[in-house]
Amino acid sequence: MSDQTDPLAWTRDYTPILRSLADEYGEEQPLSGYSVALASHLEQKTGVLIETLRDAGAEVLVTGSEPYSTKGEVVDALRDQDGVETFVEAGMTEEEWADGQHRLLEAEPDFILDDGCELIAKVHADHPDVARQVIGGGEQTTAGITRLEAMEDEDVLEFPVYGVNDTPMKHFFDNVHGTGESSLSNVMITTNTMLSGKTVVVGGYGYCGRGIARKARGMGAQTIVTEVDPRKALEAHMDGHRIASMAEAASEADYVITSTGNRDVVREDHFDELQDGVILANAGHFDVEIAVAALEDAADRVTEPRDGVTRYHMADGRRINLLAEGRLVNLTGPHSSGHPAEVMDTTFAMMFEAARDMLAEGRGEKLAPGLYAMPDRLDRAVANRKLETLDVDVDDLTDRQREYYEEWEHPDSAF
Ligand code: NAI
Repeated sequence: MSDQTDPLAWTRDYTPILRSLADEYGEEQPLSGYSVALASHLEQKTGVLIETLRDAGAEVLVTGSEPYSTKGEVVDALRDQDGVETFVEAGMTEEEWADGQHRLLEAEPDFILDDGCELIAKVHADHPDVARQVIGGGEQTTAGITRLEAMEDEDVLEFPVYGVNDTPMKHFFDNVHGTGESSLSNVMITTNTMLSGKTVVVGGYGYCGRGIARKARGMGAQTIVTEVDPRKALEAHMDGHRIASMAEAASEADYVITSTGNRDVVREDHFDELQDGVILANAGHFDVEIAVAALEDAADRVTEPRDGVTRYHMADGRRINLLAEGRLVNLTGPHSSGHPAEVMDTTFAMMFEAARDMLAEGRGEKLAPGLYAMPDRLDRAVANRKLETLDVDVDDLTDRQREYYEEWEHPDSAF
């Protein structure tokens, strides 16, 4: 396939860590004999991860983690490859999409790489016999970790799962920079408006919200942050953003962008405060952060002035614009292509390493069921691979420095 006909060609050029993993493990095939289920937004970067797992010997069973983020050309490119089985198509209804996930689980995967705990929740709820045979799993997003923590609290997990999202190599880069840049660029492309000089209200100042707020300010916007955690609110304040309740911020907003992992962040109480022409978007995993059904009920009529924009006409003449129907704006809008490839390269390298460690290194068989932090050695290994691709050198600790970390008396100190 040429660069022009191969939909993954461009992305491969920007995913050097995955390419280096495919090169290193292509011959050894450490995942040979294992089937790995993958639920993720099925677009180009995910396609390259699937190829990497397949090149390392796995049989890869593929579904989407969101019904509307699947790219048909990527499914077409993967469907006929040896070692890959797809259970998803672009344009599926939510029922067809869920049905595909159940069919995937009936194929009895050895390992589950998940996004939003889609497959892990379903295998426990609906396929308990399959769940008991699964060797392990990895979870890539905050929303999935929250669900896994709830499963762990109820003591229902049947296998060990690495919380890939919680590694420094994932959330310091993907959540902050990936979500920050891709959400704002999608808001601007979808609306053909500019952030400079506008007021951007960011709901939530976690890893994603921090990236969105910092980058919006970097583009010349005035930023207001809303929070429920007093420490996060203080952090935003010290970073130079204004803090306000959503009720107060809504009246000044040109844009409201949510990324809390929670529901109803923009809800009935706030609709009356919003200005005419405000643009609402969500970057959180589930489409519940903006109360869309309530907005529809509150509106006199609804139009679609532009691809990807739903406009709610209120009785008093104000127009409230919602992007991507309140779904992940960077992944499900008409112009969305998700995070930049370079940052997904790091996240997906961590997902690959989660599977390799639990399967090929045998850690999955040794760990009791539960949610686990990923070993720091794997995080450092991916960081080193990334630095190598950037051709950047860092210092090594000297022996004396290493010893110093292990001492408590500090004999050389003057104090
Ligand atoms: P986080 O846990 O670091 O931050 C969430 C923040 O929202 C917390 O500080 C929390 O106090 C705050 N919050 C909760 N309820 C709130 C409310 N009602 N009003 C205001 N603030 C509230 O989580 P992170 O990593 O920032 O992820 C946020 C969401 O974004 C999750 O759903 C996650 O899965 C999703 N995500 C989306 C990505 C994308 O591509 N769009 C990429 C990575 C994560």
